[in-house]
Amino acid sequence: MNKDYLKAAVEIAREAGAILCEEFERPRQISYKGEVDLVTQADKRSEQAIVRRLTELFPEHSIVAEEGTGSEKNSEFCWHVDPLDGTTNFAHGYPCFCVSIALAQRDRVIAGVVFNPYYKELFAAARGEGATLNGKSIRVSQTKTLGTSLLCTGFPVQNRKLSPNLQFYGDFTMRSHGVRRDGSAALDLAHVAAGRFDGFWEFGLKKWDTAAGVVLIEEAGGKVSDFDGAAYSLGGPVILATNGLIHEEMRTAAGETRIRVSTP
Ligand code: IPD
Ligand code: CA
Ligand code: CA
Repeated sequence: MNKDYLKAAVEIAREAGAILCEEFERPRQISYKGEVDLVTQADKRSEQAIVRRLTELFPEHSIVAEEGTGSEKNSEFCWHVDPLDGTTNFAHGYPCFCVSIALAQRDRVIAGVVFNPYYKELFAAARGEGATLNGKSIRVSQTKTLGTSLLCTGFPVQNRKLSPNLQFYGDFTMRSHGVRRDGSAALDLAHVAAGRFDGFWEFGLKKWDTAAGVVLIEEAGGKVSDFDGAAYSLGGPVILATNGLIHEEMRTAAGETRIRVSTP
């Protein structure tokens, strides 16, 4: 069953990806949802196509989609849709963006797909069935120490002055091989699943940013939690996602930064 849901999500992500690529070649129409929170014609067209197809295929399921066109139903199944993750990159012509679609059953993600249409990389996972990149099985990295890790993080586009992440960014940079900031949380998580990054953290991400990435990482052998080591709940205040081997070391380091800057 999870596989069937994934198959549908993959097809829909490919359709949405084609729309994003088409829009990427055109002069981009950008508007603002907040001070630096952008939205483009591509976000809207992609979401429209995804929501339409999901509703046709699964009329009884809820859909939560970033641009607000989903609908709540009385169902244990809920689709989490980011029609364009990496909008700022997209708006500036930097080809690091994706479509992210995931299905959760009572808040447990059972299928997820992250598709970067520009580089034609499709990451997919169904609970209990493993994770793949363009159909080939993927695993998290084998890096054993934080000091030899390549990490990734992101910064919020809303209330950015309140974010404590610059301190964490500085501290983790000094403790690792470096911290990348690619601007697409869903792709960042997919890259942890594929072993390209050893760990990722970010504050304040929404369910649609992380849902697909969570199942990708868990199915690729990695670990996802909050900074206290408790299970990550979708939309929780902070996500820590790693190859598993550096998880405790990252948690300890985050704890030290937290005390220094006295974040909750
Ligand atoms: C954003 C990206 C970015 C992350 C932000 C998100 P959007 O999503 O995932 O990497 O740092 O917190 O809001 O707005 O491009 O869909
Ligand atoms: Ca997003
Ligand atoms: Ca988005």
